[in-house]
Amino acid sequence: MAVDVDQVMANYRDTGNLKSRIGIYEYREPRFDPVDYAVGLLPGGLDGALVLDVGAGSGRYTKRLRADFPGATVVAIDQGRGMLAEVEAPAMVADARAVPYPDGAADLVLAMHMLYHVPEPAEAVAEFRRVLKPGGALLASTNARGDMAAMAELWERAAAPVLGPGGYSWHGAIRGFDSASAPALLEAGFDSVEAFEETGTVAVPEPGPILRFLASIQSFAGCDDASIAAILAAAERELARHFAAHATFDFQKTLVFYRCR
Ligand SMILES: C[S@@+](CC[C@H](N)C(=O)[O-])C[C@H]1O[C@@H](n2cnc3c(N)ncnc32)[C@H](O)[C@@H]1O
Repeated sequence: MAVDVDQVMANYRDTGNLKSRIGIYEYREPRFDPVDYAVGLLPGGLDGALVLDVGAGSGRYTKRLRADFPGATVVAIDQGRGMLAEVEAPAMVADARAVPYPDGAADLVLAMHMLYHVPEPAEAVAEFRRVLKPGGALLASTNARGDMAAMAELWERAAAPVLGPGGYSWHGAIRGFDSASAPALLEAGFDSVEAFEETGTVAVPEPGPILRFLASIQSFAGCDDASIAAILAAAERELARHFAAHATFDFQKTLVFYRCR
């Protein structure tokens, strides 16, 4: 499934959709904070370093790095102007494929859960290599192939009668940079690519967070208000049957982090 940049950026007009998706991970067991985990993977000695957080979104990594490494300059970069509204300067609107820094300027680039939104992720990886100093590091993250299968299947059952067989598949949407495709893309630009995988079960005790998650992908799916209402109504009926028999709706969540040098 080709990346449709207009649909992606419609989804990231502001931080609301992203927050609806992130909210569901409150129910993950064991509890897991990807920002804590990422900080644990960073090279030490960031005093005086230039760090570029590309696809920074609402800035959760930027804010944490600024707090933990006050001697570093952490720049938030995102293609969506509205995403950066909650991030203090330095922050800039730019495409990951054209980072506005000279060759060899940065010590560390972060690309957290964003490369699957780039139509040609190989171009972005090459751009990260270009702006990094020799010996600089890239930290990137994505989802495992087939991740969150129970949620994806719920969406597909609810959406198929509305959108037809060619409807939106979120596994398809991230295939360009998921755990199966990412290593080769990263190895093309970096000598060393280390992968760190973290799996947990998300056990959601009520339909609300699940329906908010599904609603948040409306613009990725490119569907109108009537279509998403019909999809959500079908999902709600299925969830009512599910919760009549089960205390929670469960799915597996697997994140993969890549440390590249
Ligand atoms: C899933 S969010 C991740 C946000 C943040 N990194 C995090 O993990 O919380 C993806 C972000 O990438 C941004 N994005 C998508 N395509 C981009 C591109 N080509 N260049 C820069 N940013 C992009 C979106 O606007 C969005 O803020």
